[in-house]
Amino acid sequence: MQQTGSPDDWWRSAVIYQVYPRSFADSNGDGVGDLPGIARRLPALKRLGVDAVWLSPFYTSPQKDAGYDVADYCDVDPLFGTLADFDHLRAESRELGLRLLIDLVPNHTSSAHAWFQEALAAGPGSPERERYLFRPGRGEAGELPPNNWDSVFGGPAWTRITEADGTPGPWYLHLFDASQPDLDWTNPWVHERFRDILRFWLDRGIDGFRVDVAHGLVKVPGLPDYTPSPGGSMGGDTSDAPYWAQDGVHEIYREWHEVLTEYGPDRVLVAEAWVNPLSKLANWVRPDEMQQAFNFGYLETPWAAGPLRSVVDASLAAFGAVGAPSTWVLSNHDVIRHATRLALTPPPPQGAGIGPRTQPRPDTAVGLQRARAATAFMLALPGSAYLFQGEELGLPEAIDLPDSARQDPTFFRTGGELYGRDGCRVPIPWEAGSPASGFSPSGKSWLPQPADWPEYARDAQDGVPGSTLEFYRAALALRAEHGLGAGAIEWLEFGGPDVVAFRNAGVTVVANTGAGQVTLPEGRVALTSEPLADDRVLPGDTTVWLVA
Ligand code: NOJ
Repeated sequence: MQQTGSPDDWWRSAVIYQVYPRSFADSNGDGVGDLPGIARRLPALKRLGVDAVWLSPFYTSPQKDAGYDVADYCDVDPLFGTLADFDHLRAESRELGLRLLIDLVPNHTSSAHAWFQEALAAGPGSPERERYLFRPGRGEAGELPPNNWDSVFGGPAWTRITEADGTPGPWYLHLFDASQPDLDWTNPWVHERFRDILRFWLDRGIDGFRVDVAHGLVKVPGLPDYTPSPGGSMGGDTSDAPYWAQDGVHEIYREWHEVLTEYGPDRVLVAEAWVNPLSKLANWVRPDEMQQAFNFGYLETPWAAGPLRSVVDASLAAFGAVGAPSTWVLSNHDVIRHATRLALTPPPPQGAGIGPRTQPRPDTAVGLQRARAATAFMLALPGSAYLFQGEELGLPEAIDLPDSARQDPTFFRTGGELYGRDGCRVPIPWEAGSPASGFSPSGKSWLPQPADWPEYARDAQDGVPGSTLEFYRAALALRAEHGLGAGAIEWLEFGGPDVVAFRNAGVTVVANTGAGQVTLPEGRVALTSEPLADDRVLPGDTTVWLVA
């Protein structure tokens, strides 16, 4: 059973809202969201009923991978504001009682980072080169990459440099874009720098870090060739990959755990680790490592009763075995929004995305109905839940982005074969009648908003019974009222193979993942993801919460 004993344990049952800064709220009209925009909109998140906010990267960056290419870990990119704007945002969130997590990107820097530029300038054999994974090429003249690894974004994971004197030099490893060289975590210098970075932000009062690619920092010595099985996602599906989920990463998180503890018992590290099975992922959240890990196994589970019950059981068992809460997540900035994904059978592999040429087109109404039902199921589970900005508005994936607007390196590194992740990153709508639906005072938007975005605007849903926004608010209020995040579940055998039902803290949750109708058990309907035609009949793709 999950325990929520003291405020120090807030994260065990918290609902954490992901803000993707460039697409949340633009204050200065340049078409890119920024920190002052976020600060101004925080009251809307308080009103939604979340406990904490996680900010994706806002650091100095050439933005080759939307800020996951960091050129200075201790400053704010002018695109997003200044350090003073960050401090203001921190103060505002504290005022509202919202915890604040920020993103940490330790697997790679930007190639524009001074560390990498110094490494290039310092030349072969220098200590600066040892910060990264430079290796000589294969072939007679070193003209072939050092091994056969592919980048997650497509194409080779190696790029060759030219030395200052014009001669062809070694290659450097980049598991992602060529603008994102991997750091060498066997080098103590790298460890020291990151301890400094943790302290820099902890000193500014943050509550914790979401750690990017937390399964990738350590590679098998010798960097042996490896051919992954096709269709893998951000990595961890293949447990034998020499660059994912190596045991050495745990030493790093133990080190960081100690740093966080210096700042108090309530600070958290959250692993973005695409690691299977869940029992292995649980190693990231052992008592002396991180506090939470994203449960991508749950995210990738289809909307179907049997698989849902299995993944919940496996999650509670795996995380529970190490004393950690499970997390639950359905959407983020790397996956097709669940209001669209759940209407795709099967969805494409993570990161591939969908676009104008995707056939068949997902049914928007079916997707939204399933998404609301899936959200009602998720928010009733014990543990911590993550929401991605815009899901509370029922936003679908933006499918019809023109090729000319696309920005994800995946699109470019695969020659347009894969659409990538832009479709979930489109700036969100606030006010239906305002420029860019309230995203930006100038009406600009770094990715074009679909024509029907005003229908999803927050003000168009505010106070409207049955709207997705009011449904989320009601679910979050009831979750808090009944303490569902700190509860424990007991499965109920009920309703046939398409139904998954459980009891948590006195609330009976019934999810109908099929198309048929289900007669409800006893209890007053406290929440329903869709209106019920008859008080006691649950339609298909609908979840209900009943109380005594
Ligand atoms: C995971 C992040 O969520 C994703 O957006 C990014 O592209 C990669 N890591 C590389 O940093």
